[in-house]
Amino acid sequence: MRRIFIIASVACLNVLLLAAQPQKSQPAASAIDKKVDALIAKMTLEEKVGQMTEVTSDVVSTTTNDVHQIDAAKIKEAILKYHVGSILNVSGHAYDRKHWFEVISAIQQEAAQDRLKIPVIYGIDAIHGVTYTTGSTLFPQEIAMAATFNKEIAYKAGEITAYETRASYIPWNYSPVLDLGKSPLWPRIYETFGEDPYLIKTMGASIIKGYQGNDVGDKYHVAACMKHYLGYGDPLSGKDRTPAWIPDRYMREYFLPPFAEAVKAGARTLMINSGEINGVPLHASKYMLTDVLRGELHFDGIAVTDWRDIEYLHDRHHIAATQKDAVMIAVNAGVDMSMVPYEYSFYNYLIELVHEGKVSMARINEAVHRILKVKYELGLFERPVGNPDDYPKFGSDEFKQVSVQAATEAITLLKNNNNILPLKKGMKVFVTGPTANTMRALDGGWSYTWQGDQSDKFAANKNTILEAIQQKTGKDNVSYEPGAAFDSLQNINDAVKAAKKADVIVLCLGELSYTENVGNIDDLNLPWAQTQLAMELAKTGKPVILVLAEGRPRIVTQAESLSAATVMTYLSGNEGGDALASILFGDANPSGKLPFTYPKYANSLNNYYRKNLENGNPDDKHGYNPLYEFGFGLSYTTFGYSNLHLSKPDLKENETLTVTVDVKNTGQVEGKESVLLYTSQSYASISPDYKRLRAYDKVSLKPGETKTVTFKIIAKDLAFVNDVSKTVTEAGEFKIQVGDQTQNFNYISNTVPSRTGKL
Ligand code: BGC
Repeated sequence: MRRIFIIASVACLNVLLLAAQPQKSQPAASAIDKKVDALIAKMTLEEKVGQMTEVTSDVVSTTTNDVHQIDAAKIKEAILKYHVGSILNVSGHAYDRKHWFEVISAIQQEAAQDRLKIPVIYGIDAIHGVTYTTGSTLFPQEIAMAATFNKEIAYKAGEITAYETRASYIPWNYSPVLDLGKSPLWPRIYETFGEDPYLIKTMGASIIKGYQGNDVGDKYHVAACMKHYLGYGDPLSGKDRTPAWIPDRYMREYFLPPFAEAVKAGARTLMINSGEINGVPLHASKYMLTDVLRGELHFDGIAVTDWRDIEYLHDRHHIAATQKDAVMIAVNAGVDMSMVPYEYSFYNYLIELVHEGKVSMARINEAVHRILKVKYELGLFERPVGNPDDYPKFGSDEFKQVSVQAATEAITLLKNNNNILPLKKGMKVFVTGPTANTMRALDGGWSYTWQGDQSDKFAANKNTILEAIQQKTGKDNVSYEPGAAFDSLQNINDAVKAAKKADVIVLCLGELSYTENVGNIDDLNLPWAQTQLAMELAKTGKPVILVLAEGRPRIVTQAESLSAATVMTYLSGNEGGDALASILFGDANPSGKLPFTYPKYANSLNNYYRKNLENGNPDDKHGYNPLYEFGFGLSYTTFGYSNLHLSKPDLKENETLTVTVDVKNTGQVEGKESVLLYTSQSYASISPDYKRLRAYDKVSLKPGETKTVTFKIIAKDLAFVNDVSKTVTEAGEFKIQVGDQTQNFNYISNTVPSRTGKL
C-alpha cells in the first residue's frame, strides 16, 4: 500500500518532496491502522512532535509538604503548548492507589482539553511488581525469577504485575529487561534473567505474555517494553552505561535472540540501550534501530530512548556537535519517542529539523503512527483512566502467594555439608550480618523508590530475614547482632559473644539496594568487613549457614570456605524473608538453580558457554574455575537421572528429535527439580561453544516417584552464528546432556549454508 501524506503546514519545498516519497509496501492496514492514519491526517507537525516527546512527572508536578502532585499550570503547558504524548515515572515517591488515580486523572483531563484529545501514555518501571504503588505485590527481581527455571511463575508474576499496574491507572511497563547478564560487575545484573540467552528469551517471552495477555487493551493488561536494546549487559569496565565492544557475531549469538523472541511474543514497545558498542551509541545506530530491529526482527511497536539519551549523543558520546544534531541523528536512526525527560528542546529542535528538511515528514509520521497505534491498542482513547473499583485483588493474599512461591522456587542451596540444613525448630539460632534485618537486601532497587532505599519504611509490614526466622522458630530461640554494616565491622565482640551461646549461626552477607550508576563498584570482592565477620564467627566453631542476599555474584570465596551451608537468596522480594525461613527450617524444599556462573576470583569472570576455551592450555589451572557453575543448585532430596533416550539416531532437516529422560526422586522428601537440557557440537566451522542450554522443564516429585520428561529438538535449536554473521546449523556430531546422562547423535543435512545474501 502506498501512503501519500498531506502536510498541513508546509514550510519549504524540501519537506514536501521528502513527505511525498512513496513508502515501502506494508501489510494490509488493520482497523486500528486506519484510525491512526485518519488521526495523523488531522495533526499538525507540532502535535505530531508532541506525541514523540516524553517528560518525567517532575516536569508537570510540584512537591508541597512532601506531597508530589500535578501542577495545574505545568500540565497545561505540557499538554496544550507542547502536546506531550507521554509522561513517565515518579521521582522518589511511592503513591497509594488513590493518589495515582488523582495524578493520572489530572493528566488525562488536561489531554482531553487539547484539540485532538489524544490521551497521554504513562509509563513506569514495574519491574518486579508495580514498584511505585504502596501496598503492591513485590516479586523477586528478574535474576531470582530466572533461578526458578519456571516459565509458569514468570507468566503469573507478569499477569499480576499488569493487573496491579492497571490498578494504578498506568498502561505501560518498562519491563522486562532482556539484557544478557554477562558481566558480574554490572550493577544491573539483578534486573536480568542471567547469563544464558535461552533462559532469558524463554523467561522474557513468558513474562511479556503475562503483561500483555490476549488483549493488551483490556483493563488488566499493559504494554511490555523490552529493554535495553542492545548489548547493554556487557560494558567492558563493568560500570553502567560505559562502552562495550561486541562483535556483530557475538551480538547476534548471545544478545539478540531474547529480543527476537520478545518481538514474536508480541512485545509492543522497546527501550534503547544508553551505551555505545564498538564506538557507536545505540541511539545513533540506524543499523541496529532500523535495519536489524525493523528489517530483520519485524518489530512494529514503539522504540523509546532511555533517560536523556539523545542529549548524551552530544554531551557524552560526542558524535553530535550540537543538541539539535543529536535529535536529527537519533530520529533518523529510528527513535520514535524521546525520554527527554526534563524540558522541551527536543520538541523545538525536531520541528525546526522537519522545516529544514533534515528529518522527513515520513519519518515523523512513521514514529507517530507507532505511538498512536499502541495508544489505541491499549484502549486509552475509550478509557484514559481506569475504574478504581475494578481491582479488588490488588495487594491480595492470592497475589502474595504467587510471590511466596516464586521466592521459594528461586532460593538456591549451594552447599549443605552433612545435611546441616534443614535446621530443627527450637535450636538456638544466632542471626547476624548486614543483610539480616533490612528489606533493602530482599527488594533491591526499583522498590518504592528508584534506589530502593525506602523499603524498610514502605515494606515495614513484611518480614526481614531476621523477623521471618523469629516468626518461624520463636523469638526466644533467636538472638541477633548485626556484626557488620555493609562495609565496616560493628560491635564484633558482641556478635562473637552471642554466637558462642547459639547452636548455629545464620550469617547474612551481601549487598544493599542500588541500581544503575549508583551501584557501580571498583571491586567485585565483598567488602572486607563482611569477610572479617565471617572469619571471626567461624572461630567460635559453631556451624555457619551463609545466606547471600545480593544482586550480583560478589566474590565471597574466603567467607564461603568457612560455611557449613550456603544459600543464595538473590533479591527475592517482599516475601523473600519468609521463603528463606521456610527453607532453613524445612517447611519448604529449595529448588532454585543458578542463572549465572558464580565466580571464585575477581579476575576470572567467565560464562559457562565457552568454558573449555577459557583454559588456553590443558594443564592451565587459571581458566574456568568458578565457585559454582551455571545451573547448580541442591535440594533436601536427591534426584536420579536415567534412560536418556533419543527418538532417532540422526536428526535430518525439517525433522524433530524427541528426547526423553527419567527423573526419579531418590531421597526422603518431596521436591522440585529443574531439568536442563544442553547440547554441544563436536566440530563446526568456527570453534563451537562448550555447551548451550536448549530446553528446560521443572517437575515436582514425591519420594520414590519417577517422571519422564520430554523435550523436542529441531535443527534450528542447534544453530549458531557463523563468521559471516549468518545463523546456520551445520551437519555433524552433537552431544545431548541432561543431568549426568549424555547421548550423541548426528545432524544430517545436504544444505551448505550460503555465505552471502540475507543473514
Ligand atoms: C533506566 C531504564 C528505565 C528508565 C525510566 C533509566 O535510567 O535505564 O531502565 O526504564 O530510566 O525510569
